[in-house]
Amino acid sequence: MSQAIAHVVGARPNFMKAAPVVRALGDLAATQILIHTGQHYDAGMSDVFFRELGLPEPDINLGVGSGSHASQTAVLLVGLEKAFAEASPAVVVVYGDVNSTIAAALVAAKVGIPIAHVEAGLRSFDMTMPEEVNRKVTDALSDLCFATSPDAIAHLAREGVATERIHFVGNPMIDTLLANLDRFDAARARSALSLPERFAVATLHRPGNVDAPRDARRLVYALGELAALLPTVLPLHPRGRASLEVAGLTASERLRVIEPLGYVDFLSLVRGAALVLTDSGGIQEETTILGIPCLTVRPNTERPITISHGTNRLVTPDEVGGAAASILAGGIDWPPERPPLWDGRAGPRIARILDQFVRERTDDQARELRGGD
Ligand code: UD1
Repeated sequence: MSQAIAHVVGARPNFMKAAPVVRALGDLAATQILIHTGQHYDAGMSDVFFRELGLPEPDINLGVGSGSHASQTAVLLVGLEKAFAEASPAVVVVYGDVNSTIAAALVAAKVGIPIAHVEAGLRSFDMTMPEEVNRKVTDALSDLCFATSPDAIAHLAREGVATERIHFVGNPMIDTLLANLDRFDAARARSALSLPERFAVATLHRPGNVDAPRDARRLVYALGELAALLPTVLPLHPRGRASLEVAGLTASERLRVIEPLGYVDFLSLVRGAALVLTDSGGIQEETTILGIPCLTVRPNTERPITISHGTNRLVTPDEVGGAAASILAGGIDWPPERPPLWDGRAGPRIARILDQFVRERTDDQARELRGGD
């Protein structure tokens, strides 16, 4: 076993969570290996994030690509087993709740490598979401659970995770947001798309919203209602495009349908928006810190702190028009308060714990080799 800390990333939301941890471990001169599974592979879904966030070139790129949950996960399992055998890391760090996360945790557990989960303990209590399955299994297998909020700690404790495995560290996605604030230029984003002073941004891609034709039609109707109130920009994730188009989505002057944006361009747009309509997890958190009203088209959220402390509200598609109109008329009646430890220092906190964990294990192994002392 080497002393290396292996990070496994694969999909867009992983990249902004990993960047501050990789940087902070670099400051501690830790040995690191970056494994990109290739779950997201388009230039606009992956490369631009590596470039903008200063992530190093991956040491290993598995290029797994798309597929059904079973086939994608199967390819991930085989590729990661080989990668872990080659790299023999001291610990595997996984991020969030995507298929790459659960696959890496499963392989590491089977081959006896300790697992650290960044963003542990979030629960929507909705097992129809693939991400909820991924979260629960990953946490059950993890040796170190890095929690972003107090509710996450409570969920882990209730599920029997030992207290010493749980570390409340704050939110590394917010580290990335705060570190890049100066680059989010709302005026530039607005003029690049010739937008007026007040506009909305929408992102919609969840299976529960876009896959079934009936859901997709309700969503397209809701988007139409929003666009009638104020010009709306929809950077469209590839997964939603086909079904939303079949459901009647058409681009217009009021509803701009554009390709997915890079990190800086997207958050520049959000920073200038009057409101955001989304079903993403991360955007609920980013709008909370930026103070932008966020309507989340989901029946639940694994991030309730964005409601109790932030600018987030859950809505059904039918409620979008009314909720947007009332925000435009009266602003928000829930002034945001920064959640505890969302202070830009989560990466260094995580890095210190990982570094110490690896050192202790290395010392233990050296002692064992000497026959104990
Ligand atoms: C994944 C995550 C989800 C996260 C989302 C963010 C899982 C279970 N879900 O969902 O939690 O919110 O990423 O983006 O891991 N595609 C491309 N180019 C790419 C990537 C994907 O065209 O670079 C297409 C695929 O061909 C597929 C669809 O997008 O048709 C879905 O991709 P996939 O990675 O399977 O899941 P996401 O829906 O993106």
